[in-house]
Amino acid sequence: MATPASVSDLIEFIAASPSPWHAADTTARRLLARGFVRIEETERWKLVAGGRYFVMRGGSSLIAFVLGSQPLAETGFTLVGAHTDSPGLRLKPRAAHASEGVLRLGVEVYGGPILATFTDRDLGLAGRVSVRTASGQETRLLHFDRPLVRLPNLAIHMNREVNEKGLKLDKQTELPLILGIAGEGAEPTARFLALLAERLGVDAADILSWDLAVCDTQQGSLWGAADEFIAAPQLDNLASCHAALTALLAANDPQATCLAAFFDHEEVGSESATGAGGSFVSDTLARIASGLDEEDRRRALARSFFISADMAHAWHPNFPAAYEPQHKVMMNGGPVIKKNANQRYTTGADTAARFLGLCEKAGVPCQQYAHRTDLGCGSTIGPMVAARLGIPAVDVGSPLWAMHSLRESAGVQDHGYMIAALKAAFAQ
Ligand code: CO
Repeated sequence: MATPASVSDLIEFIAASPSPWHAADTTARRLLARGFVRIEETERWKLVAGGRYFVMRGGSSLIAFVLGSQPLAETGFTLVGAHTDSPGLRLKPRAAHASEGVLRLGVEVYGGPILATFTDRDLGLAGRVSVRTASGQETRLLHFDRPLVRLPNLAIHMNREVNEKGLKLDKQTELPLILGIAGEGAEPTARFLALLAERLGVDAADILSWDLAVCDTQQGSLWGAADEFIAAPQLDNLASCHAALTALLAANDPQATCLAAFFDHEEVGSESATGAGGSFVSDTLARIASGLDEEDRRRALARSFFISADMAHAWHPNFPAAYEPQHKVMMNGGPVIKKNANQRYTTGADTAARFLGLCEKAGVPCQQYAHRTDLGCGSTIGPMVAARLGIPAVDVGSPLWAMHSLRESAGVQDHGYMIAALKAAFAQ
């Protein structure tokens, strides 16, 4: 089977987006290439009817929009939201240290990764570094896309029950990454700074601070008897970011104002200036609607619709007891509507029906998911953004295996289905 263009493009998008800062940057580059205009929160906005714009906050969150052809108060906003961050390991500020001749990097756990999946893999580092310049300071993106660090497993001879009890890693003492042999000469921090400096082409003395994430260096791939699956890092939630972006880029003179919002910090609760719990989305909507009076602004919001796109748990036949037996989500079975009575997901009967209608219009299948009643249910940016804006919303996502593993799996057809459904939303 030939690889659909949308899936090759997704694999490229992920390869270029090993950290939330890279994901926002990749998104910005693609928007600029397609004629979107970057506007700054610090400047006065002079938006033109039919215009295509985007705005960034904190380097890792971005909102892109196409102004609709009809009055905002009559059509409202159509908003799709996803998140740029993925769970994993982040370097501590004073990361480098030598232990009995071995050079290591100390890490913190970001969000809820499956830690065991970080062992014995070709790991790189990616993120942003603040450097001193002649005119002050600036932030540079950094990506080591070659195997630079590693978390070697303990041999089974010293961990005899690993297959019976599972791999457990002490977060403080057993997660530091191996960077090299300490040897004589330069002390650990100096050696690490020299590595960063060389990569950035700056003087080590000018490196001020950093946000660096551990990333996988292996590219995404297709697998399965008919190449029906995608394996890649960060499918949660870069697959949704890519689908939202692709759909927005295809929006052609829409009646309603269409937005795709990409937020950092979902994996740690979204409560930050850049996160979905912050003011970024409401500030942006308010500025787009600034020409309207208060009454029309409220009318615009009341006519709006928010689609929260995040990955969904696909049925795994090896672990039937983990799933709600009446809600088996199948790989390549189409977008999934996620529902939870306790509002961990924001979906209601009305908004679910609305999304079903979009899938119908797009000619794609649609599935429904509910978590087991005896298991705690995860959440998304859906309920938070819906509450903040006070607009109807639905939680949806593409099926995924191994959520929060360093290498997750999704369905090839599902990605095209999700793009088609989101395109239908932006074609209203
Ligand atoms: Co997610």
